[in-house]
Amino acid sequence: MTIQDEIHKRRTFGIISHPDAGKTTLTEKLLLFGGAIQTAGAVKSNKIKKGATSDFMEIERQRGISVATSVMTFEYNNLKINILDTPGHKDFAEDTYRTLTAVDSVILVIDCVKGVEEQTERLMEVCRMRNTPVIIFINKMDREGQNPFDLLDELEQKLNIKVRPLTWPINIGANFKGVYNLFEKSLNLFSANKTKIEKEVVAVDIWSEELDKKVGEKDANQLREDVELIEGVYGNFERDTYLSGEIAPVFFGSAVNNFGVQELLDTFTEIAPSTQARQTDVRVVEPEEKKFSGFIFKIHANLDPKHRDRIAFLRICSGTFERNKFYKHVRLDKNLRFNNPYTFMAQDKEVIEEGFPGDVVGLYDTGNFKIGDTMTEGENLQYQGIPSFSPEIFKELMNLDPMKSKQLEKGIMQLTDEGVAQLFLQPQLGNRKIVGTVGELQYEVIQYRLEHEYGAKCRFDHRDIAKACWITAEDPKKLAEFVRLKGQNIAQDKDENYVFLAESDWILRMNIQNNPDIQFHFTSEFK
Ligand code: G4P
Repeated sequence: MTIQDEIHKRRTFGIISHPDAGKTTLTEKLLLFGGAIQTAGAVKSNKIKKGATSDFMEIERQRGISVATSVMTFEYNNLKINILDTPGHKDFAEDTYRTLTAVDSVILVIDCVKGVEEQTERLMEVCRMRNTPVIIFINKMDREGQNPFDLLDELEQKLNIKVRPLTWPINIGANFKGVYNLFEKSLNLFSANKTKIEKEVVAVDIWSEELDKKVGEKDANQLREDVELIEGVYGNFERDTYLSGEIAPVFFGSAVNNFGVQELLDTFTEIAPSTQARQTDVRVVEPEEKKFSGFIFKIHANLDPKHRDRIAFLRICSGTFERNKFYKHVRLDKNLRFNNPYTFMAQDKEVIEEGFPGDVVGLYDTGNFKIGDTMTEGENLQYQGIPSFSPEIFKELMNLDPMKSKQLEKGIMQLTDEGVAQLFLQPQLGNRKIVGTVGELQYEVIQYRLEHEYGAKCRFDHRDIAKACWITAEDPKKLAEFVRLKGQNIAQDKDENYVFLAESDWILRMNIQNNPDIQFHFTSEFK
């Protein structure tokens, strides 16, 4: 098989949703329908169980599981499907943002009762930044949800994307009868807990009496009316508009009942993009290029505290990745090779000899990698699209055991390399360490891991900071002057970029207004 064939075979995507909308269920059902697992329930849920005694102990338990589910690969219709897992808990949203930089498309799950929820909006913002193609699956149609037209309006308004239904539900909740496929003009009638995977789809002319027989006169008439309206309101579906991220096709179903999953999988494999070209700081890299390149989008610490080795997840972007071959770690300007790169087939992982663009490879790491690092076959380029966003909570790291300050230092550096939180240093203020996160849970995780993995004890003290903005200026003197004047509010991120820490949005706005020579950036990617 040529590298072109390998590239065209691959579909690398992520499933995203607000917690509880059904991401885990849908992932499992896709594996089931794709033939990767034989029974539902085989994939362990990596979500934080509701009512767990302690969320962060649960996270420790989950860390083991989520290594195994980081990438789920299976073959379907001669395609190689790579599902990249994203954490469901909102405190780990940053992990999800980073994983989204490594996919070529996304399936977004919406709960038909709850509609568009807050986390969905943020996740879609990240997709829109990169024009990632999105397919929407409206789940839980067996529940009394909102009117489907209202849901579509809400999707368009809140997610700022045009939608195009490809299936249409017949009634909802207790009276849900199934979906009509608007393109194949076929009917898929609902029965709860469909365990069989064979298609129960029948072609039907909705204008004939056959429809009335199948779904009853009232629902048949409603469907006819809806279909006319859809055809009037939404134009033809063009694949290009989906690929460019302008229009999101929409499916309706019920993942837990295995309903609508087959249509979704079949359409996904038909229209979703294969491995895409990617932007670097110097040029666009095409997957077909001969030379290997890729980037690290996720780092996972092993559970065993005695061995501090980690697994770095590399997304291959171009060329062929080979086991035991030396590649250049661009940031460190160092050549590295890997004896045991591994890949994942359903739940098993196996050592691979080679990998192709679109694949994700797990690499054992002893501390060489940070999130965003690029590996190449010699070229100096850096993949883009892994920005940091301003954290939402800021606390100062306080050392509780002066004898262990070295361990604390090392631990917090390594944990923040993994992307658990962002670290801002204030060397001018006695080397203060401000740790920024998107959720309280991370502080517990850091505290726990510092103690158990590094033997260091710490406490976190609240700091009155509302936003972190990266700052630059064309004239280095102006920047130095601003940094000197605003001493208390200035910190540096781990790459030594200057960051302005604002106590409130109002203070930030005033500073932006009063300092026209300084550029304030809301993400770390401004170069
Ligand atoms: P998440 O990963 O997005 O957080 O959601 P997950 O799949 O875990 O689903 C959240 C809950 O919604 C689960 O129930 C799941 O069974 C249920 N669910 C998923 N799809 C459907 C559907 O199509 N219809 C209905 N009615 N429910 C659905 P749970 O009670 O939290 O967990 P469980 O005890 O059922 O596992």
